[in-house]
Amino acid sequence: MYFYHRYNGGKPQDYEGLHKSAEKGLPVVAINTTAGTSAEITINYVITDEERKVKMVMVDKNSLALISVNDPELMLSKPKGLTAATGMDALTHAVEALVTPGAYNVTKKLSIGAIELIKEYLPRAVANGQDIEAREAMVNAIFLGGMSFNNAGLGYVHSMAHQLGAVYNLPHGVCCAMLLPVVERENAKRVPEAFRNVAKALGLHVEGKTDQECAAYAITEIEKLSETVGIPKKLTELGIQEKDFDFDYLSKNALIDACAPGNPFMPTLEETIALYKELF
Ligand SMILES: [Fe+2]
Repeated sequence: MYFYHRYNGGKPQDYEGLHKSAEKGLPVVAINTTAGTSAEITINYVITDEERKVKMVMVDKNSLALISVNDPELMLSKPKGLTAATGMDALTHAVEALVTPGAYNVTKKLSIGAIELIKEYLPRAVANGQDIEAREAMVNAIFLGGMSFNNAGLGYVHSMAHQLGAVYNLPHGVCCAMLLPVVERENAKRVPEAFRNVAKALGLHVEGKTDQECAAYAITEIEKLSETVGIPKKLTELGIQEKDFDFDYLSKNALIDACAPGNPFMPTLEETIALYKELF
C-alpha cells in the first residue's frame, strides 16, 4: 500500500475499479510462491475491505510488477490444500478467459495451453508436492493463464467467488472451484460454441460433437478434476448453513464486481441468488 500513498495519495478504496492511479508505483519484484493467482504477472490485484466485507478488485496498468519470479522450487513445500485451491483458481482464469467475449486468437491459445497443463499436472502436484516436473508445469500453466486473462478478462465465477471469500473468509481458489461448474453451466446455455475449445483442451475429440456435447463434457471434466484434488462440493462441508447465508448481500456485490462485465451474459439479482443456492 505504501507506494500508492507515496505516489498517488488517498486510501486503498480509491483504487477499486479500472485504472484509478495516475502515476506508476515503486518498482516491484514479485516472487510467486503459490502458482495460482497470477497477480505477479498481471495488472490485477485484490484487497479485502474488512469493514464492508467485499474484495476490492483493482485493475490498473500502473500496478504491473517490474520483475516476476516464478520458480517451482519455491513451491515444493506448498501444502496439498493450497496446491489444489490455487491450481483450481488458475484453471478458472484459463476457462473464464476462454469463454469471455473478450477472448481473441492469442488469448485463446494461451488459455488452451494452460488448461491442458492443469488437467495433466495439477492432480500430480496435489498427490506429491515434491514432484518438480508437475510443479514446473503448474508454474507454466499459471503464466499462460495469467497472460490470457490479463488481456481477455475474467467473468462471473470470479465476481461471485470474491464475495464468498470476503464474507466467509474462504480460500479464493476453493470459491472459484466450487462456482466454476455452476456458472459455466449457465454460460454454456448462452454460448455453447465457446466450450468447444475448453472440451478440446480437457481431452475430448470434438470432431462430430455438438457444441452442447462439448460443453457438457467440459463441465463434467472440471467437476471430476475438482473432486480429484479434494475440493468440497457444498458450502455445508465448510460449515456454512443455507439459513445463515446472506444471499442478498453477496449477490448485490457480485453484480457490481469488476469481473462481471467480462462474462458472456449478465445475470440478474435473482439469477445470482439461484446460482449461490446451488452451492447448498
Ligand atoms: Fe482468481
